[in-house]
Amino acid sequence: MSARRTAILISGRGSNMASLIDAARNPDFPAQIALVLSNRPDAPGLATAKAHGIATAAVDHKIYAGREAFEGSLQAMLDTHRIDFICLAGFMRLLTASFVERWRGRMINIHPAILPSYKGLHTHERALADGVKLHGCTVHYVVPEMDSGPIIAQAAVPVLDDDTPETLGARVLAQEHVIYPLALEIAASGRVRIDGNRVIGAAKTNDNRTLVSPRP
Ligand code: GAR
Repeated sequence: MSARRTAILISGRGSNMASLIDAARNPDFPAQIALVLSNRPDAPGLATAKAHGIATAAVDHKIYAGREAFEGSLQAMLDTHRIDFICLAGFMRLLTASFVERWRGRMINIHPAILPSYKGLHTHERALADGVKLHGCTVHYVVPEMDSGPIIAQAAVPVLDDDTPETLGARVLAQEHVIYPLALEIAASGRVRIDGNRVIGAAKTNDNRTLVSPRP
């Protein structure tokens, strides 16, 4: 099977994007990063992508009257680049149900928490406030409900006594950079099957690579 033409959608820094670009440099990787698209023209990740020789585009949500019009331009850009798989990587716009349905099974997202705990924003602050001992990250297929959908990969990290949202967030981010390329590899390879909320077959691939990271 030829590599899936993949777009990464970002809104900011793009460190997860960079980890995906890096993984996709392997000629055996089942996804090819064909476009990096941001809803913010000033997103630092766009410059990083350009420096890697990847096509970039900005579709500024602020100039559109509503979500449908914004997504119309988004879809046109994806069509122009013949994209057939999407990775959301710190893309901070909610997508409409019709856009999500159009891409169902072909769009994945990374979230900085062990879903279904801590959907939404400020996950590290909330985990610290709750006193949980494990926190982490999740890559999942995107469905219309926010931060839901079949889970492809997760990683857990310990929460330490002296953690701040920043130190905890950095520990989680290091694991995001491990599991996102892994999850893209799993999802783009077509080796897995989605059965309700479950991704069947993913465990075989990520047994030894999804981890609880050791104390730093
Ligand atoms: C990442 O931590 C990602 O999990 C999070 O935004 C950050 C983007 O960083 N995503 C969300 O919160 C989505 N709800 P990056 O631009 O360096 O990849």
